[in-house]
Amino acid sequence: MSTYKGAQPNLNLREDLNNVLYINASHNETSLVHLTSKYMIDQLTKQIRNDNEGSSQNNSTDSEKTYSVKERNLWEDKLVAYNVSHPAANFRLMNGKGSPEDEEHFRPVREIAEELNTADVLVIAAPVWNFSFPYVVKQYMDIAFQPGINFVDESASSADSDGNSIYIPVTSNKSLVIVSSSGGSYNESIDFLTPYLIKAFQMVGFDHSHVIQIQRAAFENRENLTEDANAQADIISANIKHQFHQGHTRDKATIQHTGSSGHHGTRIENVNRK
Ligand SMILES: Cc1cc2nc3c(=O)[nH]c(=O)nc-3n(C[C@H](O)[C@H](O)[C@H](O)COP(=O)(O)O)c2cc1C
Repeated sequence: MSTYKGAQPNLNLREDLNNVLYINASHNETSLVHLTSKYMIDQLTKQIRNDNEGSSQNNSTDSEKTYSVKERNLWEDKLVAYNVSHPAANFRLMNGKGSPEDEEHFRPVREIAEELNTADVLVIAAPVWNFSFPYVVKQYMDIAFQPGINFVDESASSADSDGNSIYIPVTSNKSLVIVSSSGGSYNESIDFLTPYLIKAFQMVGFDHSHVIQIQRAAFENRENLTEDANAQADIISANIKHQFHQGHTRDKATIQHTGSSGHHGTRIENVNRK
């Protein structure tokens, strides 16, 4: 098998918060994961707009900053019907053997992969389905994660000290926010949703991860759950704003702290990994 080449790991450091991408796999408009994600994004947007207004009054060039929020509803928006012909076309293109047909066939995949590269903050709303996330999230990841576009595959030539293949992200200093909900309660021993998403999205540059887990959605009072989840979303949106304000200097620090509100079955984690 030949080695993937594609883009170089230029570690395109994202220093400004320009683009928020919301990947919505919630059941409906009243889902706790959706309401919490929307609340978190609204809080972040308010803070960014306030900042931009402040800097515009100071005639700073920051006032020229663009800020956008884009939602992809994974149940309603049709993704490309991805199959093995798409990575095959990408392989040929990366090895300089692609045809115009390959380019055209791969184009809708490339668009989704490039959109992920431009996301500085990615919010994923996902209920727990059978100990993990609904299949549409995996479908999205299989399309969006592309060697040569958002990571460089070094697996043929190198491995880390644990013997795992090395994949180098093309972008860095980006934040992932996972908002999940479950009908019942569960602890880390049966959580196959958050550890996987954190690990997988590190591969494509999301080296800061934040988690809001809403548990016992089938049993607890939804207003109480929402109140707790929103309080956690406030903390996360402030942390994210701080991350981008501090730029790459803060990115060198390794910070890990986990707390628990413990009131109504919600749990927050802020994990910044390097
Ligand atoms: C197909 C399916 C599988 C599910 N699997 C689980 C599960 O493994 N564990 C659990 O606690 N809840 C499970 N649930 C319940 C959902 O997690 C729950 O309905 C959802 O979190 C409700 O929250 P929301 O208000 O965010 O939609 C499942 C629901 C569906 C539809």
